[in-house]
Amino acid sequence: MTDASKDIVSVRSLTKSYGATVVLKGVDFSVARGEIHALLGGNGAGKSTLIRVITGTAAKDGGELVFRDMAGNILTEADGRRKVAVVHQELALLPHLTVAENIALPHFRKGSRVYDGRTAASQAYAALSMIDRDFAGTALNRLVGDLSLHEGQMVEIARALSSGAELILLDEPTANLTAAETERLFGVLRKLTRENGLSVVFVSHRMKEIRQIAHVCSIIRDGRTVVGNVPTAELSDLAIIEHMGQAQATAVAHSARPAPVASLSDEPLTIAETGFSVTLQPGTILGVAGAPAGPKP
Ligand SMILES: Nc1ncnc2c1ncn2[C@@H]1O[C@H](COP(=O)(O)OP(=O)(O)O)[C@@H](O)[C@H]1O
Ligand SMILES: [Mg+2]
Repeated sequence: MTDASKDIVSVRSLTKSYGATVVLKGVDFSVARGEIHALLGGNGAGKSTLIRVITGTAAKDGGELVFRDMAGNILTEADGRRKVAVVHQELALLPHLTVAENIALPHFRKGSRVYDGRTAASQAYAALSMIDRDFAGTALNRLVGDLSLHEGQMVEIARALSSGAELILLDEPTANLTAAETERLFGVLRKLTRENGLSVVFVSHRMKEIRQIAHVCSIIRDGRTVVGNVPTAELSDLAIIEHMGQAQATAVAHSARPAPVASLSDEPLTIAETGFSVTLQPGTILGVAGAPAGPKP
């Protein structure tokens, strides 16, 4: 049993419909402080909707949504949401402003405080250097529109930290990153959870990534929780695939499967007269190309 007072957010029997479409049919989900929690489920399972309800972008129809402070006291939804930030696949940064301006602007938004470039720069530097000191040293005056997606994510995370976020929800953040950028993002998430007690919810379809980064996982299927808060190490790839449902099995199995290698097997596909054989995994498409044979010498 987990101790609910340690959860920064928890939902129980959460329901949400869009018109006649019932999207969340009773979701249970909770995130403890300092953990990296993989939120899994096939396309259309309701992951993004759950994130929207937690952040308040969408209103719940029924069920319970509870935010707590570090001492375990229940917060109002408004106070709880101030501790939550989301990093979408499409970044919510202002491309024509600098990195420092993007990170610091939320501090100046409220009330009548006048924007002050030096204060902004020091706030932005403080937040960015929690993530990456080198990047903090060089990025402050760059335009956000000139950053790579990975750098933009770093800026979004820094902005979240600067605004006091204690829980960061990343909705498929690695979908368009290179392997090296994914590694760097994971390094940042590990550091922030370990050193700053941040909690992270991470949506991904890639088995390898889930294993690399997540302490625990929850799986949603067709708007219901089918696995809640189970240590990732306790679930086999196959169990995860099965819980996610048949339609999604292919996508995850594909990313979990090692790259096909040419090898001799019981039933090799032999291409005539070349002596070349290759084993085709189910679902693999083999392209064969070659120049027409020229006249024999
Ligand atoms: N604004 C909306 N209006 C109507 N249906 C929606 C809306 N947002 C999501 N849905 C539907 O809800 C289901 C779950 O969507 P979503 O939460 O985006 O799933 P996931 O992120 O797991 O892929 C999908 O069938 C989707 O079509
Ligand atoms: Mg989604």
